[in-house]
Amino acid sequence: MRTVKVNASTPYDILIGNDLLDRCGELCRNVLSPCRLCIVSDDTVAALYLERAEKSLRAAGFDTVSFVFPHGEASKTMDTIVNIVEFLAESRLTRTDCLIALGGGVVGDMCGFAAAIYLRGIKFIQIPTTLLAAVDSSVGGKTGVDLKAGKNLAGAFHQPSLVICDYSTLDTLPPETFADGCAEVIKYGVINDRAFFDRLSGGIREQIEDVIAECVMNKSRVVEEDEFEAGTRQLLNLGHTIGHAIELCSSLAISHGSAVAIGMVIVMRAAVREGLCPMADLEALLALLRREKLPVSCDFTAEQLTAVATADKKRKGNSITLVVPYSIGDTRLVKLPIDELCGFIQKGL
Ligand SMILES: NC(=O)c1ccc[n+]([C@@H]2O[C@H](COP(=O)([O-])OP(=O)(O)OC[C@H]3O[C@@H](n4cnc5c(N)ncnc54)[C@H](O)[C@@H]3O)[C@@H](O)[C@H]2O)c1
Ligand SMILES: [Zn+2]
Repeated sequence: MRTVKVNASTPYDILIGNDLLDRCGELCRNVLSPCRLCIVSDDTVAALYLERAEKSLRAAGFDTVSFVFPHGEASKTMDTIVNIVEFLAESRLTRTDCLIALGGGVVGDMCGFAAAIYLRGIKFIQIPTTLLAAVDSSVGGKTGVDLKAGKNLAGAFHQPSLVICDYSTLDTLPPETFADGCAEVIKYGVINDRAFFDRLSGGIREQIEDVIAECVMNKSRVVEEDEFEAGTRQLLNLGHTIGHAIELCSSLAISHGSAVAIGMVIVMRAAVREGLCPMADLEALLALLRREKLPVSCDFTAEQLTAVATADKKRKGNSITLVVPYSIGDTRLVKLPIDELCGFIQKGL
């Protein structure tokens, strides 16, 4: 088992190993006194892993209840949050009790948000079961839900008390969902680590423990520097402004990771055409994304994507902050006037 320490406003550990689910009870006992736990999960993950988690937690002296909702991004709404917190109240969870997010990013974001608001905030623990959740969403304390106007438009910063990443759970992921997580893995290399990016050509699955550990160390460094996203943390949004627009234009038919992959290609190609980034780096990115079976293009027009992207919360007045690669390993925040965004996206298509 590997441990990565995150020194956020409330420090916590990320545990990474291939046999941790059946030990989650004892691992939780290291950070929690015996209490009532509510495991939040989706129907797919619950069918695969809920019983094992419950068994281990009960054996460690915890009293558990569970709340399971239908899988998928469509569940990531205020309505589900209301159902979760009503359930917590009915189950009489108190301030000293705790939630456990057992699942992917949707479960983690919602469980974290419910924990942030229930009784004005109780503890929660992340047990990520997708690659995306393992390397990205379970670390950093961003929680929230989607609104009709866009993704992740309501939420709170709320750090977990512990992250337990058992990567053997990734074995049951559909290949496309594993690939989605690969987009976020590749993103870290592009943002600030050329050596890591180069190592990924050896395959992500083949070096999964190292990959997860490096990604969470990378993300935790960024979170420690800028927990509330005033500056450098925005670099983690590489490919995301356009990616979110792609997700929305497709009515969420294109998944988050796939959209981020396409979004990264669009900004990097635009940077190449503007003479900011070498062509060879774009080719290296395309090769790595294709190796992990990720899409690299979409059929939406620059106008369609711009219309949706300008409703993005990263917009500040009449400008939008984009993360632009100057090379693999060197990305920068670039403030672009809103009326230049369409032209920029056009160059990237
Ligand atoms: N909070 C953050 O910092 C942050 C960062 C990145 C992404 N996100 C959010 O994360 C979400 C995407 O996360 P995701 O891709 O994990 O989505 P997800 O949670 O919907 O999981 C994808 C699918 O895989 C299934 N699944 C999960 N684990 C499985 C397993 N081990 N075996 C088989 N099936 C399994 C789920 O039931 C679901 O159908 C988005 O809502 C995105 O906005 C948040
Ligand atoms: Zn993402």
